[in-house]
Amino acid sequence: MSKMALQNGEISKESKELLHSQAHIWNHIFSFINSMSLKCAVELEIPDIINRHGSPMLLSKLVEELGLKHERTHSLYRLMRFLIHSGFFVKQSVSTAPGYNDEEQGEGYVLAPASRLLLKDEPLTLRPFLLTMLDPMLLDPWEHMSKWFQNDDVNAFHTTHGMMLWDLAGEDPKLNRLFNEAMASDARLVTSVIVEHCRDVFEGLDSIVDVGGGTGTVAKAIVESFQDIKCICFDLPHVIDGLVGSKNLSYVGGDMFQAIPNADAILLKWILHDWKDDECVEILKQCKKAIPSKENGGKLIIIEMVVKVHKEENDLLETQLFFDMLMMNQVQGRERSEDEWAKLFVDAGFSDYKITPILGLRSLIEVYP
Ligand SMILES: C[S@@+](CC[C@H](N)C(=O)[O-])C[C@H]1O[C@@H](n2cnc3c(N)ncnc32)[C@H](O)[C@@H]1O
Repeated sequence: MSKMALQNGEISKESKELLHSQAHIWNHIFSFINSMSLKCAVELEIPDIINRHGSPMLLSKLVEELGLKHERTHSLYRLMRFLIHSGFFVKQSVSTAPGYNDEEQGEGYVLAPASRLLLKDEPLTLRPFLLTMLDPMLLDPWEHMSKWFQNDDVNAFHTTHGMMLWDLAGEDPKLNRLFNEAMASDARLVTSVIVEHCRDVFEGLDSIVDVGGGTGTVAKAIVESFQDIKCICFDLPHVIDGLVGSKNLSYVGGDMFQAIPNADAILLKWILHDWKDDECVEILKQCKKAIPSKENGGKLIIIEMVVKVHKEENDLLETQLFFDMLMMNQVQGRERSEDEWAKLFVDAGFSDYKITPILGLRSLIEVYP
């Protein structure tokens, strides 16, 4: 006999809805545990340790390699169980497990594909991006979002820190380093896809300026992959300070709202989503001044999201909307739909554009004067 007493063997539709709503809210209240558990594993370098082990790694061995006290074993088991559920690790049987305990049950941990991108030594690692986005300096503004809705500040970052992100990065070397490393890690991954699959976009160009190019990750990859292209990495003075160019690569410090060095093409990766529409039009007009006409090969190469409703891939839309919220919270920008992009291009005096959706959640957009 069931221990739970149910009327007519079933709970009412209203009660079902009530409990479903409760579960939905709980799920959202605790969604931060996804980010924070992953951050914990990355800080402890769990992916690196499991990867170095080279075969399914028993919990007891992981505890030992991490140098943890024995009392933490069950807690680590629970962290790993959670991260297996979220798709970062997988359990596999260990054929030679010596007298394994209840929690191990002859199984050890291996990396799931996503964890490879969290390894310290993986060339395309996203570790710096994760550690920056989940640093208290960038998390605190989320605490101030409701306060910001009710005040006149430009964004919640300003409400929290009293200044804009780029200004604080100019003053705080730790934030400057973290942010530049985060951007460089993303740039490495994107560039690896672009130089392999989008070579035609760069064919025929003699020169490119990477506007807001950070510490030059994309610019370096371009000059390495296209021997005839000269590339300028253009960014705020504190970002490029002390960086030294090479044969075809140079660094120029400046403000893209004032003037941009001339070139055949201008690259704008993850720049326009940081800014409001009128500011984007200003940046785009400065870019137009710096490139030749369409007939003479002038163009912009933009790498950004084009937000659209992916009917079968709800997760993708959610991630694009996460970024949109991030832009609202930390800067003053937004993620844009194709119509919104097209309006910006027209308003800045450009005649045409072509979107190539080759970068997962982002696209490569060529824009012609
Ligand atoms: C989101 S990051 C993108 C970095 C790089 N393009 C990438 O995707 O890896 C934005 C960049 O714009 C730069 N930036 C911000 N304001 C700028 C300005 N007024 N002039 C030039 N660069 C600027 C920042 O310093 C930062 O490097």
